Amino acid sequence: MADEQKHGASRRQFLTGAAALGAGAVTAGAAKAAGPDPLITEVQEWASGLGDGVDATPYGLPIQYESDVVRRNVEWLTADTISSINFTPIHALDGTITPQGCAFERHHSGAIELKKEDYRLMINGLVDTPLVFTYDDLQRFPREQHVYFCECAANTGMEWAGAQLNGAQFTHGMIHNMEYTGVSLRTLLAEAGLSVAGDLKDKWVYVEGADASSNGRSIPMEKALDDVLVAFYANGEALRKEHGYPVRLVVPGWEGNMWVKWLRRIEVMNAPVESREETSKYTDTLEDGTSRKWTWVMDAKSVVTSPSPQAPIKHGHGPLVITGMAWSGHGKITRVDVSKDGGKTWETARLAKAGENKALTRFYLDTEWNGEEMFLQSRAMDETGYVQPTKAQLREVRGLNSIYHNNCIQTWYVTADGKAENVEVSS
Ligand code: MTE
Ligand code: CO
Repeated sequence: MADEQKHGASRRQFLTGAAALGAGAVTAGAAKAAGPDPLITEVQEWASGLGDGVDATPYGLPIQYESDVVRRNVEWLTADTISSINFTPIHALDGTITPQGCAFERHHSGAIELKKEDYRLMINGLVDTPLVFTYDDLQRFPREQHVYFCECAANTGMEWAGAQLNGAQFTHGMIHNMEYTGVSLRTLLAEAGLSVAGDLKDKWVYVEGADASSNGRSIPMEKALDDVLVAFYANGEALRKEHGYPVRLVVPGWEGNMWVKWLRRIEVMNAPVESREETSKYTDTLEDGTSRKWTWVMDAKSVVTSPSPQAPIKHGHGPLVITGMAWSGHGKITRVDVSKDGGKTWETARLAKAGENKALTRFYLDTEWNGEEMFLQSRAMDETGYVQPTKAQLREVRGLNSIYHNNCIQTWYVTADGKAENVEVSS
């Protein structure tokens, strides 16, 4: 009986799908096939011959029909592609893991090619035994595995003064979420004779990359000894060149700029270096024109990825899945609310899985849509009780001239024909 019901249900869905293909707009869940559908009744080309052999793709790429699921640039941000940024196609992805092949890239002096054999990692400064590790050396320490998001501090940075870029990929796509395998920085610092028992409260590590920019950043010792990873695998395979092959730093929950790629040196110091990347950049302009430094943690944030400007509603009225992602550098996402009326009323979304520490959480709102206009928003909450702010709340503190750390609530205006647009609501 249970089986029969299951079968019946899937067949009903199947007929609906077939009718939708043949007859255009139908009401989901209530359609009958208009007539024989050749996609069902005729033998198709793909069933009349043989497919590709197993030697066709030694390393697979997505099927050609998914060729629009790619990183994209914003032209006016990319005058120079070497010191630049591209964006993850978050509007076209589901789940939480970002494939390396379409995960955003940010380089200050281009993606370099560094062989494992040429790789060296130095730990020097205030340690008993300054050390140099080869790639093979690193492979011999106990490994850890964690999923973490990496968000550039500049994500959503173009939206401070007004709704600007038309697509979740462009407004929120400086983020990826991967499963990393690596050695904890704590382990390597201990190997170099950092006395974990000593007074480390005021100590810092300065981390730098092997690329021309070096992207040097100071990290307080408390974080360095907490959850920072020296990673060499992402999503089960070696890091891609553009993400720092063969070794990058993973600094969970903290701004992407600190996730140094092509990691070459870690110096233990008594004070922060105050490098370019932490003085003239990666500080936050406030309403009164002064700047705030050391804003490392990425606060809770979320965005509806579909529907959105690049992912309009293409089906008819009836069931609609609203989906998006939420994350917090302070820990786990506990709740996400969705509003269809620009924040006047809220419904609590369903989390696909319980929130994970400093990783993306997927949310769904399974709803009905009958062509009404929507001002779609999502609002994330994390385990500290923090609630994602509105744009107006954030502007009160930060003004209009900031760049980094914009975690405000995003609004998509969805029209009666299912198209979506980046807008602001006054509240
Ligand atoms: N590390 C080095 N060595 N060089 C860089 O240019 N860019 C930083 C950081 N680490 C950078 C770097 C910035 S600003 C960000 S947001 C992240 O790397 C982006 O990581 P991804 O390119 O893997 O997405
Ligand atoms: Co960045």
